[in-house]
Amino acid sequence: MSRLPIAVVGAGLIGKTHIDRALHSANIELVGVADPTPAGAEVARAAGVPCFANHVALIEQLKPKGVVVATPNATHASITVDCLERGAAVLVEKPIADSLDEARRICEASRVTGLPVLVGHQRRHNPIMRKAKAIVGAGTLGRPVSATVLCTWLKPSEYFDVSWRRQPGGGPILINLIHDIDLMRHLYGEVDQVQALVSNGVRGFDVEDTAVVALRFRNGALGTVTVSDTAAAPWNWDLSAGEAERFPRQDVNAHFYSGTEGSLTLPRLEVWRYRADQGPAQGWHDPLTMERTVVHTGCPYAEQLRHFAALVAGAEDAVCSALDGYRTLEATLAVTQAAASGRAVVLPS
Ligand SMILES: NC(=O)c1ccc[n+]([C@@H]2O[C@H](COP(=O)([O-])OP(=O)(O)OC[C@H]3O[C@@H](n4cnc5c(N)ncnc54)[C@H](O)[C@@H]3O)[C@@H](O)[C@H]2O)c1
Repeated sequence: MSRLPIAVVGAGLIGKTHIDRALHSANIELVGVADPTPAGAEVARAAGVPCFANHVALIEQLKPKGVVVATPNATHASITVDCLERGAAVLVEKPIADSLDEARRICEASRVTGLPVLVGHQRRHNPIMRKAKAIVGAGTLGRPVSATVLCTWLKPSEYFDVSWRRQPGGGPILINLIHDIDLMRHLYGEVDQVQALVSNGVRGFDVEDTAVVALRFRNGALGTVTVSDTAAAPWNWDLSAGEAERFPRQDVNAHFYSGTEGSLTLPRLEVWRYRADQGPAQGWHDPLTMERTVVHTGCPYAEQLRHFAALVAGAEDAVCSALDGYRTLEATLAVTQAAASGRAVVLPS
C-alpha cells in the first residue's frame, strides 16, 4: 500500500504528537503543516515540511488525501468541512466539535462528500481496549449489569494559568470525562439517560472541578463515573494505562465492568468469574477466579494514524466515526445539562 499523504492543521500540544507519529509511520507521509504562529512554523521546519498560515491554502497547493485537525475545539467543524469539501478525509481531534449543531455539520459534510471522518478518541486504538472489546463482544460478562468508572487525579495549579481552563467548557467534563464516556459507549453501546451532580467547591473557578454521573445504557445496564481534577488519586485512565510518557504509570484499575456471568477490570484486563467446573448456582459464598491478560503495549496515536490510512484506502471501517463522535459528545454535554437542571436528561434514540 502506498503511503497516505497527510497534513496536520494545528501544531500545538497534540498536533506535535501527530506530526511525530506521522514522521515515524510506514503508512503515512507528512506533506505539510498549517498553523498561523511562529511556534507552529518552527515545528514544521523541524519536521522538514512546508508551513502554511491557512489550511485552505495548504490543501489547494499540496492536495493531501488526509488532514489531521488538531486545533482548538471551536474551529473543528469549519476546518473539517473545508477539508472534506476540498477532497481530503479528516482525522479530527476530540471533541468532534464544541456543539451538537457543529458536530452535525461534520456528519453531513462527510455524508455528502462520501469522505470518511475519524474522531480522535485514541483510547479505542489501545491494544488494551481492543482486547476489552473482544472480551465483552464474546459475551464473557453475560448480560451487562454495571459500569463503574473513576477519573480522578490532581492537576497542578499552573495548569490553570491558561484562562479558558477556568471557564465553563474548559473543565474535566469536556476535556477528560468525554474520553471515559466514549470508552463506556464503545463497550456497552448507546447511552439512554444521564443524571449528574457537579461541584467547583475546591478550586472555586466558574468551571467544575468534580462531577459524579449516573448513566443508563440502552442495553439496560447502569453506569457511574466520578471525575475530579482536584483529588490526589491514581484512579484514571491516563495514569493507569500508560498512553503518554508525561504521565508516570500507576498499576491500578480505573474501569470496572460487571455482568451476570463475570466482570472485567481495566486497564489491567482482569476477568473475574466463578469456576465452570463447580456446578450451577454459584454466588457470593463461592470462590471467584481471576484471569489476567497482559497485552503487548502499543501507541494508540500511532495505531490511530495507521487505521486512518487504512480507512481512507477503504480497507477498514471507522473505529470512531463522525456519528460515534457525535453520540459521545451528546452524552457528555448531557452531563452538564443534567447537573444544571437537576433532572435526568433522556437522549434521543
Ligand atoms: N486526544 C488527545 O489525547 C488530546 C490531547 C490534547 C488535546 N486534544 C484536543 O486537540 C485539540 C488541540 O488541543 P491542544 O492541547 O493541542 O491545543 P494547543 O493550544 O496546544 O494547540 C492548538 C494549535 O492550533 C493552532 N491553531 C489555532 N487556530 C488555528 C487555525 N485556524 N488553523 C491552524 N492552526 C490553528 C494554534 O496556533 C496551536 O498551535 C483540542 O481539540 C483538544 O481537545 C486531544
